[in-house]
Amino acid sequence: MNPRYDVVSIFPEYLQPLELSLIGKARRAGLLELTIRDLREFTTDRHRTVDDTPYGGGAGMVMKAEPWAQALEAIQPSEAEDPEARPVLVVPSPAGEVFTQRTAEDFAREEHIVFACGRYEGIDERVLEWAADRFRVRPVSLGDYVLNGGEVAVMAMVEATARLLPGVIGNPESLIEESHADGLLEYPVYTKPSVWRDRPVPEVLLSGNHAAIARARRDWQLERTSRRRPDLIKDLPEDALDRRDRTLLDEWAREREQDDTV
Ligand code: ADE
Repeated sequence: MNPRYDVVSIFPEYLQPLELSLIGKARRAGLLELTIRDLREFTTDRHRTVDDTPYGGGAGMVMKAEPWAQALEAIQPSEAEDPEARPVLVVPSPAGEVFTQRTAEDFAREEHIVFACGRYEGIDERVLEWAADRFRVRPVSLGDYVLNGGEVAVMAMVEATARLLPGVIGNPESLIEESHADGLLEYPVYTKPSVWRDRPVPEVLLSGNHAAIARARRDWQLERTSRRRPDLIKDLPEDALDRRDRTLLDEWAREREQDDTV
């Protein structure tokens, strides 16, 4: 079964980029189903109101519960006894769990995901509680910064998820070697000419020695990750590093310590 994604937003036109490029092509090829819905269609008043002032005071506006309930019921009319039978409801929010490549992999295994784009200060919290009978509710953050609404976050999440679906990426090999696939950053890449503005590509890449190339790339991955994202090295499972990996990391750590002391 091809997965189905529903996005609800008060700015459906904001999601237009999802019609383009790889994701648009995948939609047209029937690899995934994506429906963008306007939250205002689920309002009943003349002004199509979606927000109101927060109880308890404070800055900004809060999204009203009823339009959200109407929209979510239209998408998922029934409750489900078995939580596994419920679709996922992703609520983008800076107060959510952080979205990573692992989250994208989780999402790529789901049959149906509904994305609820909040604006203003967020959605009335009771919607998330009420929705738990028919969805597996997941507040998800793109990172530790604040956007104006969930739309940009949903575009990032849909793209990161959809490209993992079978058939979406022409060459699935490229998914195996890219950044974060194995918990490390990707190695640097080079193309022709072999010397550009006096800068040669690393010699090993021209050697035709596949084992040497694989090892050099692994070294570069480790070097780059330990320098730019030491947190990722700490999070690696015990068996992810071989002896040479550990030797190199120890060496670089000693060098950095020395640099720090001079
Ligand atoms: N909405 C506002 N900020 C956000 C963030 N950092 N991640 C996801 N959704 C958001």
